[in-house]
Amino acid sequence: MKMLAPLAGKHNVTDFEALCKSFEWSHMEREFSWFTTGKVNAAYEAVDRHAENPAKSDQLALIYQDGDTEEKWTFAQLKNRSNQAANMLKSLGVTKGDRVFLFMPRCPDFYASFFGILKNGAVAGPLFEAFMEQAVEDRLKDSGAKVLITTAELLPRVKRENLPDLKEIIVLDCEPADDLHDYEKLMNAASTAFEPVWLDKEDGMLLHYTSGSTGKPKGVYHAHRAMIQHYATGKWVLDLQESDVYWCTADPGWVTGTSYGIFGPWLNGATNVIAGGRFTPEAWYKMIEKHKVTVWYTAPTALRKLAAAGDEVAHSFDLSSLRHVLSVGEPLNPEIIYWAEEVYGKRIHDTWWMTETGAMLIVNHPTLPIKPGAMGKPIPGVEAAIIDDAGNVLPPHQSGNLAVKAGWPSMMKTIWGNQEKFDSYFINGWYVSGDSAKMDEDGYFWFEGRLDDVINTSGKLVGPFEVESKLIEHPAVTEAAVIGKPDEERGEIIKAFITLDKGHLDSIELREEIRLFIKKGLSAHAAPREIEIVSSIPKTRSGKIMRRLLRAKELGLPLGDTSTLEE
Ligand code: PRX
Repeated sequence: MKMLAPLAGKHNVTDFEALCKSFEWSHMEREFSWFTTGKVNAAYEAVDRHAENPAKSDQLALIYQDGDTEEKWTFAQLKNRSNQAANMLKSLGVTKGDRVFLFMPRCPDFYASFFGILKNGAVAGPLFEAFMEQAVEDRLKDSGAKVLITTAELLPRVKRENLPDLKEIIVLDCEPADDLHDYEKLMNAASTAFEPVWLDKEDGMLLHYTSGSTGKPKGVYHAHRAMIQHYATGKWVLDLQESDVYWCTADPGWVTGTSYGIFGPWLNGATNVIAGGRFTPEAWYKMIEKHKVTVWYTAPTALRKLAAAGDEVAHSFDLSSLRHVLSVGEPLNPEIIYWAEEVYGKRIHDTWWMTETGAMLIVNHPTLPIKPGAMGKPIPGVEAAIIDDAGNVLPPHQSGNLAVKAGWPSMMKTIWGNQEKFDSYFINGWYVSGDSAKMDEDGYFWFEGRLDDVINTSGKLVGPFEVESKLIEHPAVTEAAVIGKPDEERGEIIKAFITLDKGHLDSIELREEIRLFIKKGLSAHAAPREIEIVSSIPKTRSGKIMRRLLRAKELGLPLGDTSTLEE
């Protein structure tokens, strides 16, 4: 097994193994101001605390770049602007515990609004800007969102008639209709002074929806205590220093974009780069070159696309500012680690975690030698193991459920409105991830795959049920089953099997129409890249779709147990 040496240079933590031994989460709490004041609010710790420190208030908190548009805010400016947002929301009746959703492209005001929500003690629900009608409705309805902040462009995707709880909509970028609120007008009228609502660590902060194998996406509900781990992993794993210019490429509509696009960097007082616009290799490299990014947190699909763009593209930019590069969300193939080492002169450090876990759990810590292909080891304060379905810990080298002992600070509070679902994650005090993995003799964890039908396409989880439900809304489709099919660049792509209603004939046009139906109704990343017309969908006698069979057939694998298959 090839081992790559740890990251060179000085780090926040020099002896990872020693820290793991003596560590207790309560020690970490001493580093927050609420440890002495008793006043809890993650927005205060991430923004106001720095803004109130004369030595830091004028440091850049945020650098935003989208094409030629550039905006820079200091911590003081971020505090003022988020206070205005907090006052704006308060004036519309937002109080503690209310769900306030954000549906807008990445821009500085997203972050001001996000903190404005938290400062009111309300719960922020960020929606990925590529979500279409159905995806938006499912999330706003399930959460009972009271207020939405959106843009004129995205507003038509919000079907208000189906959302009785949604009382107020604030619109950026235009003068909206009379029954809506103008963001700019409200912000201009709002004071820059706001005393955050002081909370308990257990109070709710954030809702992120994630896909499961059954049912609609579920609302993963996080509490303010998650900041303890956001801060700790930002310090240990991202290795953030206050002088760092950090860039997390994830959108805040996904958990990486909040835990590490907001909390990790700002709790650690770093300068946070925010990229607007779409991905192109040139735009991304330019971002690193122009802003002298030092720490970069990205994803395997993006790295594979950058590698596919060719080494010359990378070499035509000055990437020498980079000192630490990390990845999350999908298996990081060793070839990409070797490629990055050659082309960037940097190794990629993999990290493993989930929406539900709120923050990193298994990582290639900067001082840990990298075993390419392994996700690394548990962070201090976290115990991970491979367990069987009865909750027994398995010895090294055996495949099983990747599980983590409950009790880390960023663990979700619950699944919104579904405590039963939350409880179903646990066996014998172990949180069961749904991933299958192995542990080796050195305690490194090796990812093997998902144990359920959830699809990971370009690092985004897609629940087959969601896509299937939308597919059968198309007039030509009677039944549908959706699987993930391995793909070199995207990890997996979505393949749909459908049966056609009488009167509809298979054609390239029809399949394209059905694909667009999902793209426009749900979201682009959930649209099947392949559609196959079949005469029937395999189901169990109790009517459950046997996606496992379709996947085995598609990949030419043994069909396994078919005894429950309906005649
Ligand atoms: O299957 C694992 C995969 O992504 C899932 C979690 O997805 P999500 O909740 O959207 O959060 C993604 C970002 C935290 C996991 O159950 N996954 C995540 N990280 C890795 C990974 N698969 C392999 N290697 C990783 N490093």
